[in-house]
Amino acid sequence: MSTPWIDRYAQRTKRMTSSTIRELLKLTAQPDIISFAGGLPAPELFPIDEIKEAAETLLEQHGQQALQYSTTEGYPPLRDMIVRHMARYGIVVTIDDVLITSGSQQALDLIGKLLINPGDRVLTENPTYLGALQAFTMYGAEYVTVPNDDEGVMVGKLDEALRAGPKFMYLLPNFQNPSGVTISADRRNEIVKLSDHYGIPIIEDDPYGQLRYEGTHIKPLVVLDAECLECQHNGKYSGNVIYLSTFSKTLAPGLRLGWVVAPKEVIQRMVQAKQGTDLNSSTFDQMLAYEVGRGGFIDRHVQHIREVYGRRRNVMLEALEQAFPDPSLGVRWTRPQGGLFLWVMLPEWMDAAELFVEAVKEKVAFVPGVSFHPGGGGHNTMRLNFSYESDEGIKEGIARLGRVVTRQIDVRRKTA
Ligand SMILES: Cc1ncc(COP(=O)(O)O)c(C=O)c1O
Repeated sequence: MSTPWIDRYAQRTKRMTSSTIRELLKLTAQPDIISFAGGLPAPELFPIDEIKEAAETLLEQHGQQALQYSTTEGYPPLRDMIVRHMARYGIVVTIDDVLITSGSQQALDLIGKLLINPGDRVLTENPTYLGALQAFTMYGAEYVTVPNDDEGVMVGKLDEALRAGPKFMYLLPNFQNPSGVTISADRRNEIVKLSDHYGIPIIEDDPYGQLRYEGTHIKPLVVLDAECLECQHNGKYSGNVIYLSTFSKTLAPGLRLGWVVAPKEVIQRMVQAKQGTDLNSSTFDQMLAYEVGRGGFIDRHVQHIREVYGRRRNVMLEALEQAFPDPSLGVRWTRPQGGLFLWVMLPEWMDAAELFVEAVKEKVAFVPGVSFHPGGGGHNTMRLNFSYESDEGIKEGIARLGRVVTRQIDVRRKTA
């Protein structure tokens, strides 16, 4: 049935595609499927009792305020709590530099709204986070990309990409979505210096920084930028890096709470942009997150999350060793030190989208890597999430996936 709307969509919708991940998730919603496809935290770890108790306290003590509109910048005690939390990681800012957003996904959209004119270039890693591409592409972004290896973005290739004049770099230094790789300390220092040299600022997206299961914490770009001697920022937040994080992976994604750190002037502009979007992020959820977190609960909870996800990562790595074809057959995977994902690279001739169809028949799902690649390529890659399924589910799912991959390789060998 035709509607009067079809030929009235704005120009910018022409490049709009629905998220492959969400489309695939629909396919994988059958109850008996083992899904490594989503980026979902483990629901059994959601602190339901603590949230229930906090909600009761909140409604009893501040019910009217919690159910009212509030300032666009966000609930000041929550912003203050975030400022204190970040200071422990060396990010020293004031609450005027912090804006609460409806998930960090909204921060990405606001960044697009504020900074991107149609045709502007954005520098990203290849692969990169699909949700950022969706947000930026809507505003007409074009991409300049730099490939990743096991130490994150290949800085040797950054120089040339920066000379293409991108408006900003969008980088995910910790346990990247989708590849799971972490940018090494040396490379981070190099990135900060190049950013200063070319005068091209950075968006640092860090939803997973707290979810480290091995190795030591590496300073975020926003801190290295402040400390950069060559850049002469005197140890202070220079505003050159806009930093994003979220409560989605440390508390619950359903609360839709994230935050942006940016210079005060940029925050003010973002506030104007956000007013047109949703006036304010849920007052209730913000006050609830503060109530849950103010006694230090989130830190203790994160400790528990780390134990569970760290174990699940190990289970997946062991299962891959056992069930997947030998690396000599061209199958490799990353060994993430944290986060939610690992990344499998299949032989060049293999198409992960075709493999996906076979995998779903075996009741196991993943995300084919191609859509994470704004610079092209990646048809033979796949993203596996290890936070959502149980240990048993991971073992069984990887065994099934291993059979599908092995079968394809065997068929190819026989026909070669
Ligand atoms: C890299 C990255 N950025 C941003 C987001 C959005 O997170 P949220 O909007 O839930 O804070 C995600 C979600 O998975 C992500 O992986």
